[in-house]
Amino acid sequence: MLINVHDFERVAAQRLSQPAYDYYRGGARDEISLRRNRQAYSDYAVLYKVLADVSAIDLSTSVLGMPVSMPILAAPTAFHGMADVGAEAASARAVTGEGSIFILSTLSNTPMEKVIQEASGPVLFQLYIYKDRGVTRELVQRAQAAGARALVVTVDAPVLAIREKDTHNRFTLPPGLTLANLSGTGKETLEGGGLDSYVQRQLDPSLSMRDLEWLVAETSLPVVVKGVVRADDAVRCAQLGARAIVVSNHGGRQLDHSPATLHCVERVRQALDPSVEVWMDGGIRRGAEAMLALCLGARVVLVGRPLLWGLAAAGEEGVRQVFRTLRAELNEAMLLTGCSQLQQLSRDLVERVS
Ligand code: FNR
Ligand code: LAC
Repeated sequence: MLINVHDFERVAAQRLSQPAYDYYRGGARDEISLRRNRQAYSDYAVLYKVLADVSAIDLSTSVLGMPVSMPILAAPTAFHGMADVGAEAASARAVTGEGSIFILSTLSNTPMEKVIQEASGPVLFQLYIYKDRGVTRELVQRAQAAGARALVVTVDAPVLAIREKDTHNRFTLPPGLTLANLSGTGKETLEGGGLDSYVQRQLDPSLSMRDLEWLVAETSLPVVVKGVVRADDAVRCAQLGARAIVVSNHGGRQLDHSPATLHCVERVRQALDPSVEVWMDGGIRRGAEAMLALCLGARVVLVGRPLLWGLAAAGEEGVRQVFRTLRAELNEAMLLTGCSQLQQLSRDLVERVS
């Protein structure tokens, strides 16, 4: 029986090829950031309220004006085709079918037009900025034309960190899978090499705040900046027009020794104008962990690997089950905390205990 995200990971590990599982699971170098993200959820205790009439719990909220049934969204992750033949289209149908929002990676195995068409709710497009600005501009224009509702620009990957298992496995895309959003650009395969060398060849390490300014001017879509842990970076991004900041260390896959994202949320929230949304990801495997992030200032959280475990374990239905499980756990945590509404999740409900 699959009753929690850990169960889905166990089944996924059995079904995936070893290199695919290692790629999905792994973190940078010694995986300190990867572990730190998870450990942080034990650093807080919840000072729950009693006799608070929790007969009607409401988990709905909105992001950038778009309603969502729960404050848990799908983080952008590359290469869903290794988990299931339905790939990103199956994931998007599942996530939007549950009333949440799907963020599609630039590095998907399915073209954005198909994913957006098959989704029954909002899809956001995660943008990697290529050295080739013609290609980048085309991705932006296509996303807009296809009906993506926002651009999520990822800023914590000027290079791809080495995930050492991937090096050992000589990880590359299995035959038959491509970078479908890049078809016809000459950038649609890893050319038999690793993802790290692809990123080094194609993505732009010269990115600066000026490029964010460029992107905001280039598109009519709201721009979200993903991969921030510092309050000063968040403030500068907001000044340049970012409508939301995703506090994230890329799931522990980029700089090792980065802080746990849970420990960064409060500082970033406090530094920003309330009109700028703070989203957060990293290590969330339980509904109650999402609740902690919300108490510390996140409006919503994103989950990366849990979606992939659902997809690998049971395709579209597996992703739906993962989202339903997280929703049920969050519902239980809210009930037991004495909060019926997400707005009631305030800082005073949590206390740092380690
Ligand atoms: C990612 N992440 C990511 N982020 C991004 O902006 N573009 C991408 O293409 C990818 N690809 C990707 C692949 C895989 C296999 C993973 C695990 C992660 C990072 C992702 O959006 C998110 O920040 C983390 O996954 C959040 O941490 P958890 O929930 O996986 O612990
Ligand atoms: C990763 C890239 C694709 O984390 O974002 O593998």
